[in-house]
Amino acid sequence: MFDLFKPNIATMPKPLIFFLLLSLSPIFFFSNTSGGSEALASNCPSHVCGGVNISYPFWLTSDTTSNHYCGYPRFNLTCFNEETPIINLSGNSYYVKNISYTDKTLTLVDVAVTANPTCPRPRHNVTIQMVPLSYNRQDLNLSFYFNCSTLSGLEALDGVPPIECLSSNDYDSYVFVNGTETERFETWYDFCEEKVVVTVVDSVNILIEGVNASMKDGFVLDWRQASSCRTCEASKGLCGYNNSNEDFLCFCSDGSTRINDMCKGMSFFIFV
Ligand SMILES: *[C@@H]1O[C@H](CO)[C@@H](O)[C@H](O)[C@H]1NC(C)=O
Ligand SMILES: *[C@@H]1O[C@H](CO)[C@@H](O)[C@H](O)[C@H]1NC(C)=O
Ligand SMILES: *[C@@H]1O[C@H](CO)[C@@H](O)[C@H](O)[C@H]1NC(C)=O
Ligand SMILES: *[C@@H]1O[C@H](CO)[C@@H](O)[C@H](O)[C@H]1NC(C)=O
Ligand SMILES: *[C@@H]1O[C@H](CO)[C@@H](O)[C@H](O)[C@H]1NC(C)=O
Ligand SMILES: *[C@@H]1O[C@H](CO)[C@@H](O)[C@H](O)[C@H]1NC(C)=O
Ligand SMILES: *[C@@H]1O[C@H](CO)[C@@H](O)[C@H](O)[C@H]1NC(C)=O
Ligand SMILES: *[C@@H]1O[C@H](CO)[C@@H](O)[C@H](O)[C@H]1NC(C)=O
Ligand SMILES: *[C@@H]1O[C@H](CO)[C@@H](O)[C@H](O)[C@H]1NC(C)=O
Ligand SMILES: *[C@@H]1O[C@H](CO)[C@@H](O)[C@H](O)[C@H]1NC(C)=O
Repeated sequence: MFDLFKPNIATMPKPLIFFLLLSLSPIFFFSNTSGGSEALASNCPSHVCGGVNISYPFWLTSDTTSNHYCGYPRFNLTCFNEETPIINLSGNSYYVKNISYTDKTLTLVDVAVTANPTCPRPRHNVTIQMVPLSYNRQDLNLSFYFNCSTLSGLEALDGVPPIECLSSNDYDSYVFVNGTETERFETWYDFCEEKVVVTVVDSVNILIEGVNASMKDGFVLDWRQASSCRTCEASKGLCGYNNSNEDFLCFCSDGSTRINDMCKGMSFFIFV
């Protein structure tokens, strides 16, 4: 059975034998991949923005060339003022403090928090609806209660100190590690205007450093492999998307671009 497919070198034309030998030689291998990695680098470029290395699977929105990009959907960043990397999650902007490609983590700070560093005031709940992202084990949620009527006498009743810079004669604001609120806060809507839940890194320091510093430190998200990229990445490709025809793309290290496919035949060159 196998013999049927075994090439008979004796009966082969000479140019074909030459080609086979050439294709197995290291020269062919190197010339092939170096040309390919240039193509890969131009399709999937790396950037440094504000000291943060932005590489695959992350990409810059400005790198969308002829309406296609290399990277995971919604893993696009803007390098604001050429020094501040920003990502959008569920319609909210976050400052990207760090990306670790070895730990596959992303450290984010809510831009609403950086807007007023002396008195950080979160404006919205942190929500992540992007499929390949999840909270890191180090994370902790803080619950903020804004504009609670001082008439409720919460401070006196529960001995919880209000956040000074977010309180006035008529209103007090409070913050708790989520789940440690005193009983009265379970019905917060009776006396507070708004509740906002934010995520921070659960450092022991939160008690020492305080909530302000923790919010500026941000929180950590883990990213996973996008399921649509599994086959492409397994064949040493990098995946992307074509917005024009809504096709999935696979950028191969031989410089070719495949549609809805893996980098066929690449294993041959990898094992040589
Ligand atoms: C950025 O990270 C990628 C992936 O880890 C790495 O290949 C590249 O060399 C890094 N670039 C810089 C400028 O550090
Ligand atoms: C990412 O791309 C989407 C469109 O696909 C755009 O609406 C969004 O603003 C971009 N995010 C950033 C941070 O550039
Ligand atoms: C992020 O999304 C919000 C709401 O869609 C938009 O106002 C903002 O401009 C976006 N930010 C970036 C950097 O694209
Ligand atoms: C980014 O994260 C990596 C890995 O956790 C860490 O080694 C590095 O010091 C961090 N860089 C910054 C600027 O926080
Ligand atoms: C924090 O809140 C989010 C939802 O907003 C939840 O998915 C996550 O599990 C919470 N984390 C902790 C440590 O409670
Ligand atoms: C709380 O009170 C401040 C000051 O009076 C006001 O600006 C703000 O809109 C109020 N509401 C919330 C939800 O913070
Ligand atoms: C943040 O710092 C300000 C100014 O020092 C202070 O008034 C406020 O209470 C702090 N916020 C929290 C949550 O501790
Ligand atoms: C806050 O804590 C409560 C009680 O521990 C829990 O039921 C709830 O899911 C938590 N919510 C968030 C957003 O972390
Ligand atoms: C934030 O989430 C909590 C539940 O965890 C909810 O009660 C609250 O209304 C949300 N706040 C905003 C501003 O959406
Ligand atoms: C993206 O789709 C457009 C329209 O079908 C096509 O012209 C273009 O060649 C595609 N780009 C890639 C990289 O496949």
